[in-house]
Amino acid sequence: MNRLCQLLDIKYPIICGAMNWVSNAEMAAAVSNAGGLGTVVPSAGLPASGGDPVENLRKHIRKARELTDRPIGVNIPLDRRQAKEYCEVAIAEGANVAISSAGNPATYTGMLKAGGLKVLHVVASVKHARHAEAVGVDAVVAEGYEAGGHNGLDELPTFVLVPQVADAVKAPVVAAGGIADARGLLAALLLGADGVQMGTRFLATTECMAHPNLKQAIVNAPDTGTVIVMRKLGVTRSIKTGATQRYLEAEARGASVEELKQLRYGRGRLGLLEGDLEEGDASCGASAGLVKDIVSAGEVVRRMMADVPLVLDSLKTRLNLPNPL
Ligand SMILES: Cc1cc2nc3c(=O)[nH]c(=O)nc-3n(C[C@H](O)[C@H](O)[C@H](O)COP(=O)(O)O)c2cc1C
Repeated sequence: MNRLCQLLDIKYPIICGAMNWVSNAEMAAAVSNAGGLGTVVPSAGLPASGGDPVENLRKHIRKARELTDRPIGVNIPLDRRQAKEYCEVAIAEGANVAISSAGNPATYTGMLKAGGLKVLHVVASVKHARHAEAVGVDAVVAEGYEAGGHNGLDELPTFVLVPQVADAVKAPVVAAGGIADARGLLAALLLGADGVQMGTRFLATTECMAHPNLKQAIVNAPDTGTVIVMRKLGVTRSIKTGATQRYLEAEARGASVEELKQLRYGRGRLGLLEGDLEEGDASCGASAGLVKDIVSAGEVVRRMMADVPLVLDSLKTRLNLPNPL
């Protein structure tokens, strides 16, 4: 039995990672119904005028609950001032799994576990994986810098991060960053992971509330379709837009931090929910180049698992192993 599946009570070791603005109840439920783990975020679909992310999180957990009887995850962004309230809502609404990120897991892991949730924490280095395990998380998500969204400052790629984290901790390890198909799933498991977390592949699904412009841009993206921005403000990977281009030009000519902030901050909603790929910004992983169609989130999970035997067969051939072994 796969120990991540056992821990989370899921059928397949596939997690739909939290995606700021767009991880809605419908996508989460579809992933969970297909045997993976879906996740909702406090900011899902919030209007430009603001809105209450705490009550929004409650709404999305409740909606997901109506759509599935399988486990549901919530993201706890630890750097937000409402992080404690997010934990309280997750516990009160009976979410099953918390995936914390962007902060110290020591702060709320105990509270979440006492409230009945399993806790996963996202890390980008061996040091942070060890710390997360030491403060009691149930599993670590080792996220390489291929991933969409905020990355670790040292920009370690998944291929070298995952085996080192797997060697360093006893807890289950979830690989994230650059995984979009059965080849990525199996490669991650061979590197020592117990499962995978994907974001970008799930952005281009019918249930995801990301704007259709962005979904299509991901399908159209070549291998070089994403770029790392914000090295001076924290590292983020985004799909290439007019805004990322202008930001990088400003960085290259030595613009001040204030100017860089103006060119950068507050554009995520515009890119992800409004589909403005000129002025907006949309976090997106390098795996966009692997995404060739917009399908349902359940189909992503089913297709990955259906392709596993094909990839294994091809592996045997390429290793010159007898088939069957
Ligand atoms: C649009 C977008 C928004 C994201 N927002 C968050 C977030 O709010 N919290 C978080 O922990 N991870 C966030 N991530 C990271 C994902 O949860 C996941 O780990 C990552 O996408 C995996 O790499 P991949 O994009 O190569 O599949 C985001 C990723 C994307 C693409």
